Amino acid sequence: MQGGFREWLGAMGWRTAGVMEPMGEGPRPAVVFSIAPGETERLGDEGYALTIAQDKVVLRATRPAGLFYGMQTLRQLVMARSNEPSPAAAPLSLPCLGIVDKPRYAWRGFMLDCCRHFFTKEFIKKCLDEMALFKLNRFHWHLTDDQAWRLAIKQFPELAEKGGTPTGGYYTQEDVREIVAYAAARFITVVPEIEMPGHATAALTAYPDLSCTGGPFATMAQWGVFADVYCAGNEKVFAFLEDVLDEVVELFPGPWVHVGGDECPKTRWQACPKCQARMQAAGLKDEAELQSWFIRRIEKHLKVRGKRLIGWDEILEGGLAPDATVMSWRGMAGGMAAARQQHDVVMAPTQFAYLDYCQGDPRYEPPAIGGFLPLKTVYAFEPTPPELDAPAAAHILGGQANLWTEYIATPEHASTMMWPRLAALAEVVWSAPARRGWDSFLLRLGRLRPGMESMAMNVAGTTWRPVISARALSASGSWQVEMTADLPGATIRYALGRDPGFRSRKYRGPFAIKKGGVIRAALFQGREQLAPAVELRLRHHAARFAAVRASSNGKLRPEANGEALLVDGLQGSLQHKDGAWLGVEGGDLEAVIDLGRSANVGRIAARFLEHPAAWIFPPTGVEAAVSLDGREWTAAAQLEWPAAGDFTVLRSRDADLRFAPRRARYVRLVARGQDACPPGHSGAGGKAWIFTDEIVVE
Ligand code: ACM
Ligand code: ZN
Repeated sequence: MQGGFREWLGAMGWRTAGVMEPMGEGPRPAVVFSIAPGETERLGDEGYALTIAQDKVVLRATRPAGLFYGMQTLRQLVMARSNEPSPAAAPLSLPCLGIVDKPRYAWRGFMLDCCRHFFTKEFIKKCLDEMALFKLNRFHWHLTDDQAWRLAIKQFPELAEKGGTPTGGYYTQEDVREIVAYAAARFITVVPEIEMPGHATAALTAYPDLSCTGGPFATMAQWGVFADVYCAGNEKVFAFLEDVLDEVVELFPGPWVHVGGDECPKTRWQACPKCQARMQAAGLKDEAELQSWFIRRIEKHLKVRGKRLIGWDEILEGGLAPDATVMSWRGMAGGMAAARQQHDVVMAPTQFAYLDYCQGDPRYEPPAIGGFLPLKTVYAFEPTPPELDAPAAAHILGGQANLWTEYIATPEHASTMMWPRLAALAEVVWSAPARRGWDSFLLRLGRLRPGMESMAMNVAGTTWRPVISARALSASGSWQVEMTADLPGATIRYALGRDPGFRSRKYRGPFAIKKGGVIRAALFQGREQLAPAVELRLRHHAARFAAVRASSNGKLRPEANGEALLVDGLQGSLQHKDGAWLGVEGGDLEAVIDLGRSANVGRIAARFLEHPAAWIFPPTGVEAAVSLDGREWTAAAQLEWPAAGDFTVLRSRDADLRFAPRRARYVRLVARGQDACPPGHSGAGGKAWIFTDEIVVE
């Protein structure tokens, strides 16, 4: 038996006070764990039956995995109970109940990208502990990409040495064995991902002759999809990959090896004599078929070693390898097509399972790559599309949530992207829709939350806080403020300029406010505040709601009325599509504001977004001028921003121009754009953007 009871109990923070041995004649124990092989029909390989009666707890399963999952249920019951107010010294009580439970799906996965940012062995173990609590059983470990190669390969030490920089380290084979064993003790299979033929820049950095062009290359210091990939016409590439996979196969005892297959541009193959010769020789009609040929060849190699190939849904293009399993990420369509071809499928579609997407109003959330995936949407995930007939549906192995880490550099940030959304995914892949429901999930999640937090799970507060939004009503010189919350039965309370308490004003509906300031709001259940307050800042500065004219030698977006965003007193988030930003494509921004009457002006400030992956750069310079009549201008202040050269960032930057106050009725701000994305950037030569969300005049 893996791990053993005592270790399991230890892992859960439980100690055994009594005897732990097979039941004999002695006194009847209070807790009984039993393997009941006869119950396969009812419990399957992973199911369990749990009975809590007044005098004892009985847990039965046909296999150890079932006992393990039954213990996780018991553990969740204890966590939920521990949260209820009771005298500190009171013994824990559990409700009497009977549960017969087994998973709907065999594949209940979580993927962590350890390439874009490195995560330590300790953090991965913590993730495995947390996965176990929610009965997840596949850890998909994304180990190679353009930015890094994280797995030590004995035959090719330079992979990890040259490919492991600059964003952290790599895992030794000893580390891998330790993690694989740790996972196995929690009934989790580790699925390694070795990317091919694309997302291979780190490998090509160490071994440039595996590319079509010969390089040289450097591990990517930016995010995206890159042209240089493994050459499909070069035998050396297959010798290399097969040697690498032979070590991988030794390290990971599970049945699957994930070979990526996603996002492989074909431009180099189109221009490469070797690749073209291969296509001719093998009778392949296009580069999609060449990719398919590539994957088939790798599948053959893995199959001989007793392993099953799994890849992203792009492996459908040009024809699936004979026994490939497809992981569907670009929606469900790829997975459905594969299932109809009688191939196994894991559903991990962006719209339900991408934990790198923002989970709430982006103003209150940590930076995210984009997208929007609230908890409720994860919970609405249905891995088996109803359109599939029964034979195809039988090929849906399950579902998986993916955490890509371009903008996630710390364990705390990773954790808050995982929780509670991974708990929703876990319930979706364990329980049939008829046996679960959103309201019940929220209730149970609320009870588990303190226990999860005490395990250092950085549970996102999104569900337990309101959203405050505001709209400028320029004509009446006010903002319309609205607050919303998803949690049933909770009350929104708010205060101006300070934190709300349980006696603060209750939100009853939208209201108008003229005065600027900070509104703070929180959700309450009775006297209990469910999460820290959120705030909305309404900036009442001299240019608020003023007449503004924006122009550009490039293109303004949005074109209609976009300039009003510059003086609406509201700040955008780091999501450039949040509706709060005015964009300029391929040029400079000039904004002229008429304050309506002359005033003393000593500060002109503007906020800009820096998001190179979306081709958004801060301006290279910002100039402010003032005027009494709108014709004669006096330069007031200016600044230069040298190009940062870091294409991985996502942040805002403030241009804060202060000067000796002058009388002015008109204010002009010019932000100079860099026209084109700079050399070295993946969009080099393409039109660059400037994004501004507010021009503050004081
Ligand atoms: C993927 O998200 N490129 C699989
Ligand atoms: Zn080639």
